[in-house]
Amino acid sequence: MDFVGLSLLSFVVALFLGLYTGTFEPAIELAGNLSLSEKRPMKNESVKQDSELLTENFYRESCPSAERIIRSSIRVMYDAKPGIAPSLVRLLFHDCFIGGCDASVLLDTDKAFASEKEAPPNLSLKGFDVLETIKSKLENVCPGVVSCADILALAARESVQLTGGPRFLVKTGRRDRTTALKDAAGRELPAPQANLSVVLRSFASKGFTARETVALLGAHSIGITHCEFFEDRLYNFSGTGKPDPELNPVLLQELKTKCPFSASISPPSATTGSTPSLDDKTYTAVPLKSMVIDLSFNNEGGQADFGIRYYRGLMQKKGVMFADQQLMAKDETARWVRAYAHDSQRFRKDFAKAMTKLTNLQILTAPLGEVRKQCSKVLNTF
Ligand code: HEM
Repeated sequence: MDFVGLSLLSFVVALFLGLYTGTFEPAIELAGNLSLSEKRPMKNESVKQDSELLTENFYRESCPSAERIIRSSIRVMYDAKPGIAPSLVRLLFHDCFIGGCDASVLLDTDKAFASEKEAPPNLSLKGFDVLETIKSKLENVCPGVVSCADILALAARESVQLTGGPRFLVKTGRRDRTTALKDAAGRELPAPQANLSVVLRSFASKGFTARETVALLGAHSIGITHCEFFEDRLYNFSGTGKPDPELNPVLLQELKTKCPFSASISPPSATTGSTPSLDDKTYTAVPLKSMVIDLSFNNEGGQADFGIRYYRGLMQKKGVMFADQQLMAKDETARWVRAYAHDSQRFRKDFAKAMTKLTNLQILTAPLGEVRKQCSKVLNTF
């Protein structure tokens, strides 16, 4: 056999053994009962490949003012109502974590599918109206061009910056999914009562390391949480009838004043006394009470930096949710909490990188998906 023949033979053998890592068209699979326009990248397609499908300033030619319109709209709305910024950051997380950054979380229920908004972890999401307002502005300028998935990613980037976080790279060119993934949202979003192993497993399943998970949770430096998501820690932790020993006693008293005991408090694992797992129905479908408190509860008053205030709080047992405080439970994550608490620059770099990675998860690019006209409706309902 000559050299060419030998090379060809070894290539075929390597291909058979799965050793070839060259540049074929990305393989795609039909996920569950999704339609052809919902073809999703295979599990082994790395996040890096996803990000390579996007480009910087994708709308340069097709809608040059798109990014400017999004930025200025968010700024104006933030001045009037600062709470929109954390809400949009959370919305991005809940979109990207389930089936990728495809704006599926923004869809209302349709005759073909149930909305992700109805999944228990999503019942307290906010910011949908903000995105719809921006979308309609963009539709006036460049109809049918800018996807809701890109609007959400860019709006969340702006929101992080407005609240004191770092600016991170957001490439564009995402397309919108034509269905919602309600069941996956109910199953895959970690609950506020999840323990560290569950949280790490959940983030690892989306490609995040322990370090990136700790960095991403730094987003809990901003925004609010309803009492329901942590009040078992105040009154009946894991069915003990006592508060969580990992909750700072000063903070405990303050939180008790803000979130008085209510008869509805019955922690999910009260019968077993065990730490709740992701499988427990810890996000309930009951309407939330109006009482909310700051996620990074700062009982010293002052406004510390984005990130720093969250990690320093954890070091003082001031994580409000169980899942937050769990970052101190093992050295694998606690070492990053300590590192970020002391080195703001390191946190900002890591957070920016992790946010970019989040915005690149399993994106759909042309010819997959579509560009909606309204973020809450797929095109074919018009
Ligand atoms: C273990 C993972 C996580 C859990 C269990 C979790 C859970 C929660 C819960 C229960 C709330 C309170 C919602 C409410 O009361 O309305 C919340 C708020 C928030 N979460 Fe998370 N989260 C997680 C990870 C993340 C990540 C990775 C991000 C972003 C990168 C994020 C960003 C936010 C923000 C900004 C808020 C405040 C929302 C607002 O003020 O409207 N979360 N989270």
